[in-house]
Amino acid sequence: MGSLMPKRFDHTPMPLLSRIGVSLDSELLDRFDKFIAEKGYDNRSEAFRDLIRDRLVGTAVVASKAPVVGTVTLIYDHHTRLLPEKLADLQHEHHEVVISTLHAHLDHDTCLEVVLLRGKSRQVQQLADKLISTKGVRHGRLVMSSPDTVSPHLHSHH
Ligand code: NI
Repeated sequence: MGSLMPKRFDHTPMPLLSRIGVSLDSELLDRFDKFIAEKGYDNRSEAFRDLIRDRLVGTAVVASKAPVVGTVTLIYDHHTRLLPEKLADLQHEHHEVVISTLHAHLDHDTCLEVVLLRGKSRQVQQLADKLISTKGVRHGRLVMSSPDTVSPHLHSHH
């Protein structure tokens, strides 16, 4: 069964460490350093590991057929040619997965859209990937949860 609990390796032998080099522009690195200082990390490596784990847990730990709910948050420019139409078309094509959409016009140009999804983990992830990777979407993020995992007793009421 899928589980949303992060895997912990605290009791396993010390894993092999690999060193990697990452190139970042200095402005992004400054922002990263401020971020990790606010969060109380001692060093960049631990903050980096947590970010990677968070992404892996959020997108891959749930089994592909597990029933999940998800929210996709999208930020995009309303004036990008055909973009609002493309995002709406994708949602119509997958209407069986889309529960609802919230749209806010943040300013003259910028839209915030939150799409509620429900389905099998794989379906939800695939649609989210399509929405987020649509050309012109400036920032997108899927957050998934599994009601079955969080509240397994709910089944007995049916
Ligand atoms: Ni808008």
